[in-house]
Amino acid sequence: MTPITLINPFNQKPLRFTDAGLTDDAGQLFPQKDGVHIMVKNQDYTGNFGYQWNRFQTTQLDNISGISLSKDRFFAETGWDPKALDGQRILEVGSGAGRFTQVLLAHTNADVYSVDYSEAVFANYRNNGPNNRLHLFQASVYELPFAPAQFDKVFCFGVLQHTPDVERTVASLISMVKPGGELVVDFYPIKGWWTKLHAKYIFRPFTKKMSHEKLLSLINKNADRLIGTYRFFDRIGIGRFANRFLPVCDIKGTLPENLNKTQLREMVVLDTFDMFSPEYDQPQNIKTVVSWFKKHDMEHVWGGYINYDKYQAAVVKGTRKKI
Ligand SMILES: C[S@@+](CC[C@H](N)C(=O)[O-])C[C@H]1O[C@@H](n2cnc3c(N)ncnc32)[C@H](O)[C@@H]1O
Repeated sequence: MTPITLINPFNQKPLRFTDAGLTDDAGQLFPQKDGVHIMVKNQDYTGNFGYQWNRFQTTQLDNISGISLSKDRFFAETGWDPKALDGQRILEVGSGAGRFTQVLLAHTNADVYSVDYSEAVFANYRNNGPNNRLHLFQASVYELPFAPAQFDKVFCFGVLQHTPDVERTVASLISMVKPGGELVVDFYPIKGWWTKLHAKYIFRPFTKKMSHEKLLSLINKNADRLIGTYRFFDRIGIGRFANRFLPVCDIKGTLPENLNKTQLREMVVLDTFDMFSPEYDQPQNIKTVVSWFKKHDMEHVWGGYINYDKYQAAVVKGTRKKI
């Protein structure tokens, strides 16, 4: 397979490998650190994710939890046949600790390029590297180190709502797809006027300003009480309404049932931190995301809900128009 063309995302000049890292003709160097090509100066607004995924590095990994949640979600949402991905180039944007990177490496023979803006990429490397089919970059979706239109498939799960300009994020993802290639995204959907009537949107303006350590410690201290109250509200039949206002993640709707007590507590603390710490949390209308796909050169666009196990995800996918 011909190697991918890497570019300096700030001046579009081609990059080549040297012992020190990736460099362009003008001599600008992007170092390699702990298995990752560093294309950013800092984590900018994604520091919470760097903190979170390095502390909860293995919590959501199928091969550690023993539950095939990420695998089921990945193949249900993409509809991709693992065998057909043999030798294909796949780009993952916003990898977090690499739960889907792990699925791709374990269940396909694809060449995987994986990117995250935050230091989560180091957790991804510890989880999945070294592997000669894995290429890891710390980079923003807005400044990707790849020449356009080189990937057979691109996916971006759980990221759109956490970026500052969601349409620009979609356009940038599309620019990476080869003509005839596919893009799949999932994101928090707007379900109706009540979507933002939720503890997350009430408290996050304050909690996102707290130090990560303080917020995590607060969640940790209150986790058992919150899990107990959530279960109680559920038992007495008011869970569907009352639990929206509890400052804890949606335990029933998003977590597996067969977890032991320690696993459940860890996942609740992680998901609750994930809820209250991001700088941006912008749920989207599925129809709007579909319209952006069409506006930016995609065809055969589909948007809707996809079920896997007991869960449901808002997904939009499509194929890049052939020129
Ligand atoms: C909620 S996590 C999802 C991680 C992973 N996809 C998953 O589902 O487990 C969102 C990720 O998007 C990354 N992210 C946010 N803005 C980004 C950007 N501009 N470019 C690349 N990654 C970004 C964050 O650093 C974070 O790791």
